[in-house]
Amino acid sequence: MRRKLVVGNWKMHGSHKANAELLAGITGARPFGCDVAVCVPFPYLSETAVTLASTDLRWGAQDCSAHEQGAYTGEVSVPMLAEFGCRYVIVGHSERRAYHGESDQLVADKAKAALARGVTPIVCVGETLAEREAGQTEAVVKRQLSAVIHTLAHCASEMVVAYEPVWAIGTGKVATPEQAQAVHAVLRAQLRAATPQADQMTLLYGGSVKPDNAATLFAQADIDGGLIGGAALKASDFVAICRAAE
Ligand code: 13P
Repeated sequence: MRRKLVVGNWKMHGSHKANAELLAGITGARPFGCDVAVCVPFPYLSETAVTLASTDLRWGAQDCSAHEQGAYTGEVSVPMLAEFGCRYVIVGHSERRAYHGESDQLVADKAKAALARGVTPIVCVGETLAEREAGQTEAVVKRQLSAVIHTLAHCASEMVVAYEPVWAIGTGKVATPEQAQAVHAVLRAQLRAATPQADQMTLLYGGSVKPDNAATLFAQADIDGGLIGGAALKASDFVAICRAAE
C-alpha cells in the first residue's frame, strides 16, 4: 500500500509571525501517520528549514528555474533550493501556467532540472472548466503529463503528480471523489504504460480540499494524498487533513 502524502502549498501568503504560528501548530501535532510537507514562498525557505530541521516534516518551493544558473533575473535555481534542504518543488501549477504562460515543455524541463539535483518535482496537471465542459479533460491532462514523461524518460517514476482541476482551485467547488478518481485512474494508466514503477508512484489531488471532504477523496484507489491551498494556511485545518490521510 502506498503511504499517503499531504503537501501544503502556501502560495503567496505568509509573514514571519504567521509562519511561525502555523509551523508551530503543525509540528505540535506530530506524529503523523502520513508524509507531510509545506511548500513555502522563497524568502521563507531559510526559516522553514531551521524550524523543521529536527522534525520528520518536509519542505519545498513552489516553482524553480529550468536553468542551473546564469543571467535569469528574478529566477531561483534548483541547486539553490537544494541548499535550503528542499525535498520538493511544485512545477506546472495552473497559476503559473495561466499567469506566466508556462508551456507543457517548460514544466517538463523544470521537473527534469529538479530531479537532476535530487529534488522531487510535484508536477501539476488539470483542466479548466471550459475544457471539462468540452469533454477534453482526459486529453488535456494526458497531454500535460506526456510532455513530462517523455522529458524525464527513465526517471519518470521519481516525480509526484498532482491532479488539480483548475475549476476547483480556491473556488470551494471540489471535484467529487468519483470525478477525481476517474482522472487519477487515467493518469495511473498513462504512467503504467511509461514505467514499471507506476503503482508505487504518488498521485495527489488538489482543489478545495478541506477537513470535511479530505477523507473521502483520500479513500479513492488512486488518490495518494493532497496538495492543499487555502486550508494549508490554518494549522487546525491542515492538521485535520493530514489526519484524514493517516
Ligand atoms: P485550494 O486548496 O485553495 O483550492 O488550492 C489548491 C491548490 O491550488 C494547491 O496547489
